[in-house]
Amino acid sequence: MSNGFAPLANDRFLRALKRQPVDRTPVWIMRQAGRYLPEYRATRARAGSFMNLCQSPELACEVTLQPLARLPLDAAILFSDILTVPDAMGLGLSFAEGEGPRFARPLRSVAEIDALTVPRVDQSLRYVTDAVTLIRRELHGRMPLIGFSGSPWTLACYMIEGGGSEHFERAKALLWNEPAAAHRLLDVLAQSVSAYLQAQIDAGAQALMIFDTWGGALSADHYREFSLRSMAQIAASLKRGEGEARVPLILYSKGAMGQLEAMADIGADALGLDWTITLDEARRRVGDRVALQGNVDPVVLYAGIDAIRAEARKAVHSFGAHPGHVFNLGHGIHPAIDPEHLRALIEAVHNESAALFAARGNPR
Ligand code: CP3
Repeated sequence: MSNGFAPLANDRFLRALKRQPVDRTPVWIMRQAGRYLPEYRATRARAGSFMNLCQSPELACEVTLQPLARLPLDAAILFSDILTVPDAMGLGLSFAEGEGPRFARPLRSVAEIDALTVPRVDQSLRYVTDAVTLIRRELHGRMPLIGFSGSPWTLACYMIEGGGSEHFERAKALLWNEPAAAHRLLDVLAQSVSAYLQAQIDAGAQALMIFDTWGGALSADHYREFSLRSMAQIAASLKRGEGEARVPLILYSKGAMGQLEAMADIGADALGLDWTITLDEARRRVGDRVALQGNVDPVVLYAGIDAIRAEARKAVHSFGAHPGHVFNLGHGIHPAIDPEHLRALIEAVHNESAALFAARGNPR
């Protein structure tokens, strides 16, 4: 599958990531294919379980396309989960109804860490790359497809805790008590994530995002040593093509906005922002080294339409009429949100940015 040069009907998202001018700010939404959509809940019920949904390329493709059929979004994101990689490493992933993820075999000793190996992506994660190929085909060049992975640190959190956690006490204790073993774990995860993302590029992913959801749980020093370092290894190892065909990489470390300058230095094209920083401040801090993605508080979607529109206007004007902004929420959309509230947000970003760019004589 070719990347980049195939003409896209809507290439705003890729242009913004490359900091090229656009006619209006592109929008996609973390968890845009999810439980807030009744059609997702219907397909999910048909699949029987969340893992069945992820592991069927046809069903994963179906739910990937659902939000695009009803909302004016500018990018598709592969429907999958970050925890497919530890599952492929043998930890036994399941999602109990109404609870979070669970591993049957969490990492409980250094010996278990040392027994881990990089999964054969072409075998155990073939269902993901098959989904990427199928989604690319079904998109017919309408808009780009984003592939993704969890960061090594965020995957390690779930692998050590065995599921979600409030304080990550086991995962963080490992960093102090067994730093060498922690580095070995993060290295095998960095190699696994690199192989996984490379396979997604080869299958047709046109942009990549690394979700470092728990980067913000670490101290500044530990963030650099145990999270950012392994993401830098991944960024350096990926073969992402050259020039216009280059596959952009977005890095999102939730809760770690104090580290933006360091993040901007590891070779990513864009940084994902949570809602604890303004777009204006983030841009001043990283200059034009990287594009920025984010960052409205997902909770605003519970508010009334006027408040939602005001928040969209604020985001567009905070970034201003410079190239390099991809609008998104600061974290995933909540399951109880009315899709019509999301429509109001997307339309307001599009309308407000189109007016701003036209007024400033932006070239596209
Ligand atoms: O954004 C998208 O639309 C693409 C799909 C996607 C999912 N998970 C689908 C999903 C993506 C990009 C993810 C990433 C993911 N998964 C992250 C990083 C981003 C973030 O949210 O911080 C994390 C930490 C996970 C792990 C995970 N998966 C958890 C903790 C849970 C349970 C919590 C919850 O929201 O229910 C999941 C399940 C999950 N992944 C759902 C979806 C749509 C809901 C499961 C269901 O349908 O029952």
